[in-house]
Amino acid sequence: MMQDELKKAVGWAALKYIPLGTIVGVGTGSTIAHFIDALATIRNNIKGVVSSSEVSTEKLKSLGILLFDLNDVDSLDIYVDGTDEINSNMQMIKGGGAALTREKVIAAVARQFICIADISKQVQILGHFPLPVEVIPMARAWVTRELINLTGGLPKYRHGVVTDNGNIILDIHHLHILDAITLENIINNIPGVVTVGLFARRRADIALISNPQGIKVMS
Ligand code: 5RP
Repeated sequence: MMQDELKKAVGWAALKYIPLGTIVGVGTGSTIAHFIDALATIRNNIKGVVSSSEVSTEKLKSLGILLFDLNDVDSLDIYVDGTDEINSNMQMIKGGGAALTREKVIAAVARQFICIADISKQVQILGHFPLPVEVIPMARAWVTRELINLTGGLPKYRHGVVTDNGNIILDIHHLHILDAITLENIINNIPGVVTVGLFARRRADIALISNPQGIKVMS
């Protein structure tokens, strides 16, 4: 099976986890695009959604799904999002689509985080995928130096990318992450960093992993 078929399979598989009559948190990316197509089939049975990016918002709107501002929502039962890497503890690297900050906020609010991914995203050790960090533009050079000192990795500026929040992305290459929570805390503490794309303190509660044989559920 091609990777996009696996993404589609898992995007649709997530539908049965959606509690009807509630507001659903929606992530970003090509796997989530399939989930949004699936969600559109039950749009009259959910209250609406909270979106994690402008890209997802556009697609949700085009399919007639009602959008809520997170500030108008007291609580969220469920958040569904993709990932760039996930380990056996369901800790993740996210932010390949540069939407990590809004994704992390919604994940923090949600009672349950369901990660949907194809088998290529499952890893033993996080860090082969460059770790995204959202940074305010004036702090780029300083944060780059700090990331080299504190992580031993090699941060690279993602040219031409401005996040939905008006910031830039540094991607840290050559990491081998053995203690994701500690690294998440260290990077988040650098002045100028908005968010690091390590989702370890708030990891997934359920992961649906698609492979050519079917969908594996981790919880
Ligand atoms: C966006 C993300 C995405 O979930 C991640 O990049 C996976 O994307 P895709 O489903 O296209 O492989 O974190 O910021």
